[in-house]
Amino acid sequence: MAITQLVLSGLLAATVVNGQSFDGTSRSESAFSYVQPKNTTILGAYGHSPAVLPSPNATGSGGWDEAFSKAQQFVAKLTIEEKADMVTGQPGPCVGNIVAIPRLGFPGLCLQDGPLAIRVADYASVFAAGVTVASTWDRDLLYKRGYAMGQEFKAKGAHIALSPVAGPLGRSAYAGRNWEGFAADPYLTGVAMERTIRGHQDAGVQATAKHFIGNEQETQRNPTYDSNGTITDVIQEAVSANIDDRTMHELYLWPFANAVRARASSLMCSYQRLNGSYACENSKALNGLLKEELGFQGYVMSDWGGTHSGVASIEGGLDMNMPGGLGPYGTIPEAGSFFGKNVTYAVNNGTVDESRVDDMIVRIMTPYYWLGQDKDYPDVDPSSADLNTFSPRSTWLREFNLTGERSRDVRGNHAKLIRKLAAEATVLLKNKNSALPLKAPKSIAVFGNDAGENTMGPVNQATFEYGTLGSGGGSGTGRFTYLVSPLDAVKTRAKKDNSLVQYWLNNTNIATSTVSGFWPSTPDVCLVFLKTWAEEGADREHLSIDYEGNDVVESVAKSCNNTIVVTHSSGINVLPFASNPNVTAILAAHYPGQESGNSIVDVLYGDVNPAGHLPYTIAKNSSDYNAPPTTDVSTKGADDWQSWFDEKLEIDYRYFDAQNISVQYEFGFGLSYTTFNISDIQAEAVVHSVSSIPEERPIQPGGNPALWETLYDVTVTVTNSGDVRGATVPQLYVTFPDSAPEGTPLKQLRGFEKVSLAPGESRDVSFELMRRDLSYWDIVSQKWLIPEGEFTLRVGFSSRDLKEVTKITPVSA
Ligand SMILES: *[C@@H]1O[C@H](CO)[C@@H](O)[C@H](O)[C@H]1NC(C)=O
Ligand SMILES: *[C@@H]1O[C@H](CO)[C@@H](O)[C@H](O)[C@H]1NC(C)=O
Ligand SMILES: *[C@@H]1O[C@H](CO)[C@@H](O)[C@H](O)[C@H]1NC(C)=O
Ligand SMILES: *[C@@H]1O[C@H](CO)[C@@H](O)[C@H](O)[C@H]1NC(C)=O
Ligand SMILES: *[C@@H]1O[C@H](CO)[C@@H](O)[C@H](O)[C@H]1NC(C)=O
Ligand SMILES: *[C@@H]1O[C@H](CO)[C@@H](O)[C@H](O)[C@H]1NC(C)=O
Ligand SMILES: *[C@@H]1O[C@H](CO)[C@@H](O)[C@H](O)[C@H]1NC(C)=O
Ligand SMILES: *[C@@H]1O[C@H](CO)[C@@H](O)[C@H](O)[C@H]1NC(C)=O
Ligand SMILES: *[C@@H]1O[C@H](CO)[C@@H](O)[C@H](O)[C@H]1NC(C)=O
Ligand SMILES: *[C@@H]1O[C@H](CO)[C@@H](O)[C@H](O)[C@H]1NC(C)=O
Ligand SMILES: *[C@@H]1O[C@H](CO)[C@@H](O)[C@H](O)[C@H]1NC(C)=O
Ligand SMILES: *[C@@H]1O[C@H](CO)[C@@H](O)[C@H](O)[C@H]1NC(C)=O
Repeated sequence: MAITQLVLSGLLAATVVNGQSFDGTSRSESAFSYVQPKNTTILGAYGHSPAVLPSPNATGSGGWDEAFSKAQQFVAKLTIEEKADMVTGQPGPCVGNIVAIPRLGFPGLCLQDGPLAIRVADYASVFAAGVTVASTWDRDLLYKRGYAMGQEFKAKGAHIALSPVAGPLGRSAYAGRNWEGFAADPYLTGVAMERTIRGHQDAGVQATAKHFIGNEQETQRNPTYDSNGTITDVIQEAVSANIDDRTMHELYLWPFANAVRARASSLMCSYQRLNGSYACENSKALNGLLKEELGFQGYVMSDWGGTHSGVASIEGGLDMNMPGGLGPYGTIPEAGSFFGKNVTYAVNNGTVDESRVDDMIVRIMTPYYWLGQDKDYPDVDPSSADLNTFSPRSTWLREFNLTGERSRDVRGNHAKLIRKLAAEATVLLKNKNSALPLKAPKSIAVFGNDAGENTMGPVNQATFEYGTLGSGGGSGTGRFTYLVSPLDAVKTRAKKDNSLVQYWLNNTNIATSTVSGFWPSTPDVCLVFLKTWAEEGADREHLSIDYEGNDVVESVAKSCNNTIVVTHSSGINVLPFASNPNVTAILAAHYPGQESGNSIVDVLYGDVNPAGHLPYTIAKNSSDYNAPPTTDVSTKGADDWQSWFDEKLEIDYRYFDAQNISVQYEFGFGLSYTTFNISDIQAEAVVHSVSSIPEERPIQPGGNPALWETLYDVTVTVTNSGDVRGATVPQLYVTFPDSAPEGTPLKQLRGFEKVSLAPGESRDVSFELMRRDLSYWDIVSQKWLIPEGEFTLRVGFSSRDLKEVTKITPVSA
């Protein structure tokens, strides 16, 4: 049953209009605003996407030359039928499969989910989710996680990891998959992409940056099909993300540029439409932005079933059709494929130039050779085939060799890293009178349905009332081999102090009871563990904690003046109890992965000093957020689902700053058990004469290399002014001069660095400002330009706690 749910909620989730009520949460706090599409007869400048043709050939630039020649030699040996196989998925043991060509010693390609674990596998680790590790703001940990995950994919025989995620970026607080990605900010997400991709690929596995692009909501991400029969008709097309050119560059494309620069092997195009044209056949996005402007040398694969045409997609820049078949979500291979034999026909009838198909395969095979996957790569673990509900054995049309060792344990010592990751990622939001760390409390009361063991089986694929949440749902989840619950870890730790541990886990019951009746004498501390579910295929309906979490906190706090709240949530929760004087501490622990309880106990007891910082803003009220998903389309027109990114650059803190809205906890915020100072800001020009226009250099992966050139070094001194060791994250925000075009955000993150300091210790921290960091995208010249005049640089501990300021004038009038 859990497995069936997995398929349903993950890859096949129906795109119903936020119909199901899945959590029993009280809706009192719900402020989900329903957005009507605009009148589609007055679409204005949008409504079509310009054609950018032909699709550029790869050149192997950026250090891939040798692999590129090997790929060309490989392609030269292929028949046209083999070429069709190379670009078309087939049912098989992995979530995505390219079949073997035994006569050439090519073993095929195995593609596996996902961004926090190799999902379709046994004896594999479940790591902390993207939003969790983004909260560390720690380049080193981001890399180590990427590397450890890469090792597990490789050891299981997966050539390609469908990870990491930069889309959704977090335009909307409600989007169901924000937790799979990193931060509601392109700069932080860009760094996280780069570090994760380098980690994956240094371990030998290909990284797939996804979902390209504008995938900012789940609702109607796919068309509504009339599903009677095998040939299916579209009743309504998928939602169209209508994004202007500047917003595209400065927000949504930005982290993908980092991904391309990090040599991501693959990019996955997204389900929804862009300016009216499906992302997987959008030549402006794939040929124009990605392959020309960013110089991407790898291949574009479709999201599962995101291909909606053959020839048009091939010309539009799509290189690999996944999972290959026709029908909704590409699941019906017997019905044929937009690719497959159609590629052969299209070449033979002269519609598609064979050189384009060759380029597709060269793009697919270059990373394979570059990463040495042609040499001694592990075979696919046969257990994947048994666990694969997406293409079970009964659906296979070809032969697969599954002779490798079954059920390999690939976890190594990753548990240690996972424990550390989630501890370091924990964001301490409130800590009144140093309630934390705990000081050998004699009596502990544990509350909440997130504290204990899951009672609904091992696979996290739907929300469940009882049990801690380690991950969200859908293709981005993992299969837990174990999950340490908070209650278990608290009990284990409390033994050291011989503390009494009492617990009460039924939220409904807690919320409606007088809690003081529970104990003979008030506990020293009341720990409340709460959770919020999110999953692929559905957007969130509200931003509150699930299962009446707010009422649980109020009920406990009425009787306990040392109430400490821990949330295991997908992301943004509004926290109406933040000002309750009896709530002494609040920790946002997000989705921590398998070591959950150990990670949080390390923080509660001070073995790890929390250093997490919010990768988004927590507003005072759900209704303060802008840009909700488009959900309420009551009309039936095929084209009626339109989402207008009218807020342009103003998402998350950019919006709250522009509107001067006071918030509960701002972007970048996070406390520590110690305190820090920042002093002595200095900005030093690295380049003497700076032009507004970048020098035109030959495009490399990541775009014009001039954009990545460091122009300024900014330095501050950070001091630990408290009495315990701790780490903090000084953040650099840039304010552009008035000459920048209208709509430029008041400030934008353009640097950060995590620094760990002993009590009393000071250290210089520097940030490199690159040309891109000081530029806006000029829609007229189609270039990144540095505006004339004075920039203001501020460094502080969050987007609203800025301590030091200095000014620079890179380009004068
Ligand atoms: C849409 O706009 C057109 C042109 O302004 C107008 O004629 C039409 O009535 C509008 N349709 C709706 C449903 O408002
Ligand atoms: C979408 O339309 C806007 C407005 O015309 C245009 O600036 C932008 O380049 C288009 N983007 C794509 C991907 O078609
Ligand atoms: C790609 O290379 C082939 C030669 O292999 C050439 O015929 C074709 O015109 C090139 N395509 C583009 C878009 O440059
Ligand atoms: C499977 O392995 C056998 C023996 O190594 C080989 O002869 C055969 O071609 C392989 N088949 C495929 C589909 O890889
Ligand atoms: C499929 O269902 C639609 C209604 O959604 C109906 O109009 C159509 O006739 C059906 N087609 C077949 C082949 O049954
Ligand atoms: C070719 O594509 C069409 C859809 O355009 C599909 O109906 C047909 O089955 C495909 N043919 C093959 C052989 O896959
Ligand atoms: C060539 O084949 C492709 C793929 O089957 C098809 O879409 C296209 O219409 C065909 N063109 C001609 C001219 O027959
Ligand atoms: C939880 O508490 C509610 C309200 O008291 C009760 O109806 C429900 O049966 C309890 N659930 C369990 C699993 O004990
Ligand atoms: C705080 O807790 C104390 C018991 O320790 C209680 O008397 C008081 O009413 C509580 N205050 C609030 C605001 O709930
Ligand atoms: C909490 O209440 C207890 C008495 O129940 C009192 O001793 C203690 O000082 C109070 N703590 C705070 C932080 O107010
Ligand atoms: C949140 O905003 C809504 C709508 O503006 C308002 O009705 C509600 O009272 C606010 N809630 C809080 C807790 O301020
Ligand atoms: C922003 O709001 C604060 C009060 O919340 C006010 O003091 C300040 O003047 C406002 N700034 C602007 C630019 O409106």
